[in-house]
Parts: sequence; C-alpha cells; structure tokens
Amino acid sequence: MERRTIGAAALAVGAIGLGCMPMSWAYSSSRQRGEESVRAVHRALDLGSTLLDTADMYGPFTNELLVGRVLKERRQDAFVSTKVGLLVGEQHIVANGRPGYVKRACDASLRRLQTDVIDLYQLHRADPEVPVEETWGAMAELVQAGKVRALGLCAMGARGGRRLGTRLHDATIRQLQRVQQVFPVSAVQAELSVWSPEALEALLPWCEARGVGFLAAMPLGNGFLTGTLTPGEGFEPDDVRARHPRFTAEMMASNQPIVVGLRRIAARHGDSVTPAQVALAWVLAQGRHVVAVPGAKRERWVAENAGADAVRLTAADLAEVAELPGARGSWD
Ligand SMILES: NC(=O)c1ccc[n+]([C@@H]2O[C@H](COP(=O)([O-])OP(=O)(O)OC[C@H]3O[C@@H](n4cnc5c(N)ncnc54)[C@H](OP(=O)(O)O)[C@@H]3O)[C@@H](O)[C@H]2O)c1
Repeated sequence: MERRTIGAAALAVGAIGLGCMPMSWAYSSSRQRGEESVRAVHRALDLGSTLLDTADMYGPFTNELLVGRVLKERRQDAFVSTKVGLLVGEQHIVANGRPGYVKRACDASLRRLQTDVIDLYQLHRADPEVPVEETWGAMAELVQAGKVRALGLCAMGARGGRRLGTRLHDATIRQLQRVQQVFPVSAVQAELSVWSPEALEALLPWCEARGVGFLAAMPLGNGFLTGTLTPGEGFEPDDVRARHPRFTAEMMASNQPIVVGLRRIAARHGDSVTPAQVALAWVLAQGRHVVAVPGAKRERWVAENAGADAVRLTAADLAEVAELPGARGSWD
C-alpha cells in the first residue's frame, strides 16, 4: 500500500485507512458484526491500511474498546486516530470542549484503546461555549505530556448546502486559523467523495498549502457510491441514512447515474475493479496529502477498499467523474 505523510509531525500512514465507525455506530445496529469487525481491523493492518479512525463517541465507547483489542496485540502496525469533544446524552449529542474534560477524556480513550499514546487526537466538534483556543491548548498539553503525537480537527458541522455567498468550509477555515496560532494542526478530517466534493473548493487547498494532512471521511457516500444499495430498500431507525436526504427511495433512484458512471470507469480498469474502488481512487487523486478513510465492518469490504490503492485513474477518468451529474438531495 502506498504510504502518505500527514502534517507537521510527518506521520506516515497507508493511503487508504479504515473508518471503524460502522462497526459500532451510525449504521443499523442489528447489522453490527462483532467478531468479524475485529477480524476486519486485523485484515486492514495486514493490507497496509494502517490508519484506524475511531472516536470515544462511537458506541459510545465500544468502538474504541474494539480497536483496543487489536492494538493490544499489534500496536506497532497501526496508526490510531481518535476524537474528543462530543458526548452522547439521553436525547442529544452535545459538545464539550472544556480543558479539564478534554484531559480526562484522553486518559479514558488511552485506557480503552489499550495504548499509551494516540497518534492523532482530533477535535470532533468545537464547543460553542468554550473558545476553541482553550480546547486546543488543552489538546496541545496532551502532546507535551506524550499522550498524543499530533492534533487534528474535524470539519463536519457545516454539512449541507452552502448559504448564498459563502463556501461550505469558510467557518472551518477561520477556526483552523485560530487553532494554528496555538499549536500546529496535523490533519483535517472532512467529508470528501465523488458526490460531496465541496472540500475541494477551499479546505483541501488550505491544507495542501500548509502541509496539513486531509482525512477524507465518508469517501463512499455512506455506501451509496459502492453500487450495492437498492433504492427503496429502507434503513433501520438508528441508521443515519434513515434521515439522510440523499437516501430516500426517490433520491437514491435519481442519483443512480453517478453509480453508473463509476461502474463504467471501473470496467475500463478490469473485470474485478468495483465502483467503490473507483470512488476511493478518485479521493486519492485529489492530492498527495489526502488519505481516504472508508468505513467498513466486513473483511470483504476492507480487502476490496484496500485494493483501490492499485487503481490509478487517468486524466480522462477524472474528467469523466467531473462530468457526472451533481448529487440530488440536500440537508437544507
Ligand atoms: N469526523 C466526523 O465527524 C466523521 C463523520 C462521519 C464519518 N467519519 C469517519 O469516516 C469514516 C467513513 O465514513 P462512513 O463509514 O460513515 O461512510 P463511507 O465510508 O462513505 O461508507 C461506509 C458504508 O459503506 C459500506 N461499504 C464499505 N466498503 C464497501 C464496499 N467495498 N462495498 C460495499 N459497501 C461498502 C459500509 O458497509 P458495512 O458497514 O456493511 O461494512 C458502510 O455502510 C467513518 O468510519 C469515520 O471514521 C468521521
């Protein structure tokens, strides 16, 4: 697997990582795979997908526990990125960026992950009640204490359409500029995929210009871009896609031309190449500072996704993706 370097701390990871979230969170809980997920993490490491992305919030807590089972056995093979700053309450998810909380949460993550250092510690969401510099300062102290190697910031809050005259990630960039004054940002994590390319506009160039790594979350469009989902198949109430505007039967049907296009390009690269692999290869083609973080809980998907490393899209392929219709279905 190609290795890519993330940020100021020059941390090297496989170009395709593994998003561990679907193993314990956000997708239908009845379809969680238990032990197969542990095997899937091992498989990812075997294939060079070293970056394991988790969060204390996923589960909550159980996703870090799962990743910790693997780290206990093979810490040297993995690059672990986790997140802090979101708490799952009874009814809501709430941000908490208070410095004391951040430090306690880090200790708890270290225990669950069964490691003495987190490679990349990411601020999941800024707390509107706490100046982001204060939260980031506490995270920087964790680096100084040797509990964390590098810091990252997630830029998911602004998901959805842009307001007139603003770009989707303008607020994130302002936040990044503030935290950079306190301690270097090593990586930004945000959605980037064939059907959600907004980060290309300003956020990716911002990262590239400053040597900041970019972790592409949801690179498979929550599974849609793999072509394995059927319009109208329905999602369980605890699946994010049950409330996602692009996953109504109507929108899934009307967005099929995107999958058809990915399938057409895949076919040109060989019989065994899949739309998922083309979607990931497209993400990797957006810059040497980009790492794709596809989520998966099955060994089969993990292996398929790691195989995208071998798919090199041509300029004609990339132009064809650019010509695909924009996705329909907006959060607005
Ligand atoms: N920072 C944040 O706020 C934030 C937000 C969202 C996501 N993330 C990170 O980004 C990662 C990726 O996002 P995501 O998992 O939501 O979305 P994704 O990677 O776009 O898609 C994941 C879905 O695709 C399916 N899938 C994966 N590989 C497949 C393949 N080769 N063929 C068919 N289906 C396949 C998975 O199925 P199975 O589940 O059945 O394996 C899962 O349902 C997460 O795991 C998380 O680490 C971060």
